[in-house]
Amino acid sequence: MIPTLLAITMLLGHLSAWTWIYNRLHASGLSSRFVRQLEKWVILACLATGGSVFVWLVLRGPVVAATSPHWPDHIMLAWQLICWMMLTYVLTGWLVRRIARREPGPLVANDTQCLDVARILGRRPIGRRLTRMWGAIPGNQILHIQAHHKIVRMPNLPPALAGLRIAHVSDLHMTGQLTREFFDIAFAHLQTWKPDLIAITGDLVDEPACFAWIPATLGQLACPFGIYAVLGNHDQRLADVARLRQTLTDSGIEDLGGRCVLRTIRDVPVRLAGNEQPWFPAAQLPAAQPGALDRATPHPFSILLSHSPDQLPWARRHGFQLMLAGHTHGGQIRLPGIGPIICPSRYGVWYASGLFDRPPTLLHVSRGLSGVHPLRFNCPPEVTLLELRNP
Ligand SMILES: [Fe+2]
Repeated sequence: MIPTLLAITMLLGHLSAWTWIYNRLHASGLSSRFVRQLEKWVILACLATGGSVFVWLVLRGPVVAATSPHWPDHIMLAWQLICWMMLTYVLTGWLVRRIARREPGPLVANDTQCLDVARILGRRPIGRRLTRMWGAIPGNQILHIQAHHKIVRMPNLPPALAGLRIAHVSDLHMTGQLTREFFDIAFAHLQTWKPDLIAITGDLVDEPACFAWIPATLGQLACPFGIYAVLGNHDQRLADVARLRQTLTDSGIEDLGGRCVLRTIRDVPVRLAGNEQPWFPAAQLPAAQPGALDRATPHPFSILLSHSPDQLPWARRHGFQLMLAGHTHGGQIRLPGIGPIICPSRYGVWYASGLFDRPPTLLHVSRGLSGVHPLRFNCPPEVTLLELRNP
């Protein structure tokens, strides 16, 4: 009984260790080609070493003492200890997240509306045969958009900004797998909220053929205080990133990538910045420029758009009160009772999706609208309206 339990926990620890490596690899700023190559090796190494460990466990069972004269026993013992340490780390994190979820957070209320895109259109807006097959898997939620209207408590919100409505959309991944109608429905709903400001946090286009969709989708959005965007790691893979930035600008969307601007909203000076690290250079603004990234200049309210939630320490260091991010897709597949496993962040699944109060910054991570892998289980795509309130 005990050897079996030790063997099972070791295999779980083995998977945890390789998932840890996989998640951090996709959070790195390494070139996408290198990441994709390395990703294959990580998966191969996980399977090969996992298979070897499994055979070892079946033949000999777990190593329980370091007294063996054979060196393979010592390697196996060392790997066992690493696996158990990883499993302890993962289980502790899971427990801490569950406890933290019980505490009253910044979310006051959440009104969620489900948009069943296939039902609304009367057909599935899927453009490729293979995606149609994936989409037909029972429980796959790629066409079930959740529109969240979240009322959020912000202790440091200037009173004049109480009730400010910010629409947040991320990870559109326009690939052609989902047709333009899918995005039309999401943005039509977003527009019914009549937001004051719209934030788009990266991974907009994967296929250059979809550039033409931007003026017809995002370009149709309107709000009184502007539409702002940053790019993500998938946008960086495009052969012509400058063309994407130009298309956004031509569509009335302000490109905030590596920039910081000062705007006046309800007579309050609001600093808006975009951080596209680690895939694009950081904002490098002289301190004299309006809205510059120095903490000496007091800003009543600052909003950061970042593709990756990993820039949270940067946001806190620079005194941003609100940070909006995406990139993680909520994990895309969430196991019941466990949650997400795969999450491209150096924090693993900590910031997979939702609201996180890390004073002085409040972070909102969107699950995104789509993805290059057309699979979503217990993790539907989302568009969100954040309504900011004083406590
Ligand atoms: Fe993405």
